[in-house]
Amino acid sequence: MERLDPDKLPRHVAIIMDGNGRWAKRRGLTRIVGHQKGTESVRDIVRTSRELGIKWLTLYAFSEENWKRPSYEVKALMGLLNRYLKSELKEMLDNGIRLACIGQTEKLPPEVQRTLWQTIEKTEHNTEMTLTLALSYGGRQEIVRAVKKMLGDIEKGTLHVNRITEERLSEYLYTADTPDPDLLIRTSGEYRISNFLLWQVAYTEIFTTPTLWPDFRKERYLEALLDYQKRERRFGTTGEQTIHPE
Ligand code: FPP
Repeated sequence: MERLDPDKLPRHVAIIMDGNGRWAKRRGLTRIVGHQKGTESVRDIVRTSRELGIKWLTLYAFSEENWKRPSYEVKALMGLLNRYLKSELKEMLDNGIRLACIGQTEKLPPEVQRTLWQTIEKTEHNTEMTLTLALSYGGRQEIVRAVKKMLGDIEKGTLHVNRITEERLSEYLYTADTPDPDLLIRTSGEYRISNFLLWQVAYTEIFTTPTLWPDFRKERYLEALLDYQKRERRFGTTGEQTIHPE
């Protein structure tokens, strides 16, 4: 396989992890087993991102819409998340990974919220990589929330309408401190954004693969990154969005 150019890695990779259910169905297994396998992919992709030196990784772990799934599946996903956070804490601390989250996390079960915030606090001084989990996240909801916060500040007199710019609006989003994704990966052959980081992906390169999320491991990830680097080489001098602002 061609080698990755370490100087042309995306700063921020965002991933829509899709296909756990189909992976399980094809094997006559329950969807929950698919999610368990998917959690192993999460581990692998986080580890690989850190090894490569990618600074920001955002994973769509649970969408606003996912609450509509059968309650046993929601429960299983919450349990997996809780266990994942507990089991990965050491690795995060050993490897300088800071955990962050975006979304309406107040909707998560109290125990998951506790583990989440404890992990965020314990890893807050890590600087090598930021792993952001999108939990109970929806892009439109995020924008509505931002607009409300802005209106609140206008009422208070701390924000003036003629000062509203794209940059200012960005500061009201969950991702205020995060650069926009350079690369968005979606697994399992779908071509949708599914309400993920709507504002932030305006100039993001999109990579889709038929590989289902439980099969999306290091090798496939490297292929995605290589594909991204080729596009950059092709369009680097013409597309402003492919130049990393430092
Ligand atoms: C899509 O598969 C995936 C999800 C609903 C969320 C992803 C969750 C995990 C990978 C496990 C837990 C997360 C962490 C961070 C430990 P799907 O069920 O929509 O698949 P389908 O479209 O084939 O049915």
